[in-house]
Amino acid sequence: MLLHKSSDLFRLMKVCMLSEEKKFFVSYFHSPSNMTTGHDGEGEEFETLDDVWGEGGDGWYGKAGEYWNQQDASINGVLGGFGDLHPTDVAGSETFLNMVFSQLAVPRDRGADCGAGIGRITQFLLQKQLKQMDIVEPCANLIKTAQVELGKNFQGEFIQSPLQSWVPKMNTYNLLWHQWVLLYLTDKDCVDYLVRCRESLTPGGAICVKENVSMKSGQFLVDSDDNSVTRTLDQYKSLFTRAGLKIALQFKQPRWPSHLFPVLMFALVPIV
Ligand SMILES: C[S@@+](CC[C@H](N)C(=O)[O-])C[C@H]1O[C@@H](n2cnc3c(N)ncnc32)[C@H](O)[C@@H]1O
Repeated sequence: MLLHKSSDLFRLMKVCMLSEEKKFFVSYFHSPSNMTTGHDGEGEEFETLDDVWGEGGDGWYGKAGEYWNQQDASINGVLGGFGDLHPTDVAGSETFLNMVFSQLAVPRDRGADCGAGIGRITQFLLQKQLKQMDIVEPCANLIKTAQVELGKNFQGEFIQSPLQSWVPKMNTYNLLWHQWVLLYLTDKDCVDYLVRCRESLTPGGAICVKENVSMKSGQFLVDSDDNSVTRTLDQYKSLFTRAGLKIALQFKQPRWPSHLFPVLMFALVPIV
């Protein structure tokens, strides 16, 4: 597909690999979301990020659901047309995961792939590292494809749910993997969700997050096509702290195209 217009580019970037071209560009001055101001580059002003989110709920989440329901249930589809980056992505995650297991000694009994799409990361990486993986994904056609791709011998549970309403069982998971999905959650829902994740960890467990991060100081991006937010590093750190989590490991995706947002990986553990 030719990328003549920024709208074409945005269509390809649903996977969250947004370039520095921005449709909605919001200036960000302070970590709390209610201290932000911004605009959309086309004249609309936002006094706060809460203005962008509105009330949350269906008004905010409906669009992402519609968007993902229309995408191809394929590697290229969940990567927004960047299927060729799949091997690089998986290799980077594998390096990071090896650090998680060796340096943090996270147990390997049970994990969940949260916002799993077609189960791409579980299929190519996580199921090789953990004895049981559960798949959590709201979109019917994607989770159905995950069931097919992972095959009859797959042991884990398939849970069709958005993360903002998923309550993982207490004291159950050694590792919860989130990749290109927290960008869909409002700050409040993200913090509440991460608290539930913290409570669902077994002793020694960790929450992994792999997301695009805006490294431009104080500037984050809202994509109105799928209602997602590319947060700054400070914003992510603030969310983690508010959820009672600290960063035990941080790793930047190697060999990533420089015109795309940097992708950072975090291993989070309870603060206490
Ligand atoms: C860019 S894809 C990434 C899929 C997968 N993590 C991967 O890397 O292959 C984004 C995924 O997030 C899911 N998603 C969007 N909003 C979500 C929400 N509120 N809760 C859980 N998943 C969501 C979409 O259905 C889609 O599967």
